[in-house]
Amino acid sequence: MRIICAENYEGMSRQAANILSSVVAMKPDCVLGLATGSTPIGTYQELIKRYEEGDLDFRRVKTVNLDEYVGLEPTHDQSYRYFMQSQLFDHVNIKVENTNVPGGMAQDVEAECRRYDEIIASMGGIDIQVLGMGHNGHIGFNEPAEEFPMGTHQVDLAESTIEANARFFENRDMVPRKAVTMGIGSIMQARRILVVVSGEGKADIVEKAFRGPVTPKVPASILQMHPDVILVGDKAALSKLL
Ligand code: GLP
Repeated sequence: MRIICAENYEGMSRQAANILSSVVAMKPDCVLGLATGSTPIGTYQELIKRYEEGDLDFRRVKTVNLDEYVGLEPTHDQSYRYFMQSQLFDHVNIKVENTNVPGGMAQDVEAECRRYDEIIASMGGIDIQVLGMGHNGHIGFNEPAEEFPMGTHQVDLAESTIEANARFFENRDMVPRKAVTMGIGSIMQARRILVVVSGEGKADIVEKAFRGPVTPKVPASILQMHPDVILVGDKAALSKLL
């Protein structure tokens, strides 16, 4: 694993954007696995800036997102489709038909999960997967569990995740209780993984995930088994690791 320690959130965002930009530059038709949450927002802003300056071209780039809440329309301002449109896609020259987010409104959730796995396979896999990390070690919405789930599946969100994400909704009751997420298997199959972490609130879980035992009780700990992980964090988030 490569660790890049930045001074602060802005530095972390620039370093993460450097890595993503280099993938796009080397392979203009690459498949980017993207993440939501507050951590990658600065990275996306950097990518937009580089696109506006003429240094990045998304015309042939394809994307797959990690997860989506069940029961939110894509137009809902807390849906992850809406997040991706407003934080990145609407501001660069990516073709919307080349972007994929699991459908949270599917009648048949099982069928939607299979469809999503087929999309990833038909693209030839993910070149680089961006990951944030939940305070309980979740990646995507793979919550602490008894085993590592393989493919895209529906999950019941952990109480701590509902709590953490309530700040984005009018009140706690509005937070969806379920989500569709890529499985740990799908994430681990990405050729390269870019983890972004920021703030001292993440320091404990970062240490647990990358120095503790590999266990589904800390889903991110599986990343220790991946051959090509880059962890980009600010000093505060990496303070217990370095
Ligand atoms: C959500 C997302 C995760 C993300 C996590 C952390 O639960 N499903 O993909 O990593 O939040 O979010 P933040 O970056 O805001 O700490």
